[in-house]
Amino acid sequence: MALLIGVPKETAAGEKRVATVPEVVEKLIKLGFSVAVESGAGDGANCADDTYRAAGAEVVPTAAALWAKADIVFKVRPPSPAEVALMREGGTLIGFVWPAQNPELMQQLAAKRATVLAIDALPRQLSRAQKMDALTSQAGVSGYRAVIEAANAFGRFFNGQITAAGKVPPAKVFIAGAGVAGLAAIGTAANLGAIVRANDTRAEVADQVVSLGGEFVKVDYEEEGSGGGGYAKVMSEGFQAAQREMYAKQAREVDIIITTALIPGKPAPKLLTAEMVRSMRPGSVIVDMAAEQGGNCELTEPGQAVVKHGVTIVGYTDLASRLAKQSSTLYSNNLLRLTEELCKTKDGTVNVNFEDDAIRGLTVIKEGTVTWPAPPIKMPAAPPKPPAAAPAPKGHGHGSSEPMSAQSLAIVFGVGALLFLLVGAYAPASFLSHFTVFVLACFVGYMVVWNVTPALHTPLMSVTNAISSIIAIGALVQVAPPLDAAGAANRPNALILGLAVVALALTAINMFGGFAVTRRMLAMFRK
Ligand code: NAI
Repeated sequence: MALLIGVPKETAAGEKRVATVPEVVEKLIKLGFSVAVESGAGDGANCADDTYRAAGAEVVPTAAALWAKADIVFKVRPPSPAEVALMREGGTLIGFVWPAQNPELMQQLAAKRATVLAIDALPRQLSRAQKMDALTSQAGVSGYRAVIEAANAFGRFFNGQITAAGKVPPAKVFIAGAGVAGLAAIGTAANLGAIVRANDTRAEVADQVVSLGGEFVKVDYEEEGSGGGGYAKVMSEGFQAAQREMYAKQAREVDIIITTALIPGKPAPKLLTAEMVRSMRPGSVIVDMAAEQGGNCELTEPGQAVVKHGVTIVGYTDLASRLAKQSSTLYSNNLLRLTEELCKTKDGTVNVNFEDDAIRGLTVIKEGTVTWPAPPIKMPAAPPKPPAAAPAPKGHGHGSSEPMSAQSLAIVFGVGALLFLLVGAYAPASFLSHFTVFVLACFVGYMVVWNVTPALHTPLMSVTNAISSIIAIGALVQVAPPLDAAGAANRPNALILGLAVVALALTAINMFGGFAVTRRMLAMFRK
């Protein structure tokens, strides 16, 4: 029997998002479900009741009526006790739940014999799970909005301008923490024309910062900051002291600081002291995205925008909700992708399949039994970790690739030389000269690829493709053969000539096209 999905109006104060937008209602109906929406649920996100009706949903007047008839409820924020009381026995709930932070809510839901899928418990490391990753989609919107809030509170342009009325320097923006929200903020601020710098304890994000138009500022202290699973760890005292020094310097130089630093399950690290705020120029802005977890700045007041020492400190905790239409659309798409996974049969029923790692991770309560936390997922081909004893080399400018150790290089060379000797002893001389060129080409090719930052491998491929058009010389020789001793041209027959001309035309496309594509690709990396 086809199930009914219910979308109530969010009850948390100031929450404007809605769990399903009308465009997604249509797609849920195609999957075989019927959909009911509480009247006014989409008002904050510019989705009027009529648009839901037009998409095929039934609009229900009250929350009580909606919860009573829904088999599955789609929500954004965790339900309040009053909402849980309205829920049907044995119903299903999908939305943010935060089971670690809300043990009482978990008990109430279990008592209702509910099945609960917490979108925040999604195993984000599975590439298949990306389409359902609401944490990422919402943090992306929030990072964007953080820059917009900063621009709103800042008294100047972001981009530098020279006008008849005077010269405006570009704003300098520093972003602390380059996770999902931080990277979105870097891209947005750079697009507005600001000079953007960023720092993160995980060195592997440096390439991403640069590719979005920012500059990665390193802390002058060697320590690996990854705590596993793509998250950060708490850093040593020595690192923290060096980091404070760097942040103090940035605070004196920049106009805007956006902080997004977070370590899962820990209070947000305090990165900006009152002293640093005092050292900023009057009119500067701080947007503290970690306000809800205690804030990265000592002077932040969660939920408020305050002015202290002439600096506006924005501590809003509802940044995604401030861009409700966008965040609701992305969130609805995440839930739609999840529903597709739950309803592979497209008949309006759901199968909470524990064989599926993504579904297993999401399911925090199944038919009244708490199933959270899910057992850790065994990743099939995790890249081998470098041995802990080996310190990271300093000042290495080529991304994460490390050249071979001297020992293995010597072995490779030794084996190569031996093979070469063997071939030399038995093969004809003409073969040997070709073979030498081949071996040298392999060596040069290897060195070139190894010394190019991985992010630039695609343009490298296209430029080498263009260079490979050197074979055009072969065709040229056929079309216009060199003169013989008597000064007469040795014309080949018409067929060969024709083929050579065609080959020339095709290689020309490869050559000019290859260089043109490379130029366009490289332009994407340039600022
Ligand atoms: P994330 O986990 O992807 O990013 C956090 C980043 O901070 C990581 O890259 C981590 O390596 C870095 N970090 C941790 N400690 C650091 C330190 N001491 N110095 C420099 N970098 C450090 O998290 P995401 O999704 O980007 O969210 C960032 C923050 O924004 C979180 O606190 C989150 O709760 C908050 N947030 C706030 C919203 C709001 O409305 N105010 C909305 C969405 C997210």
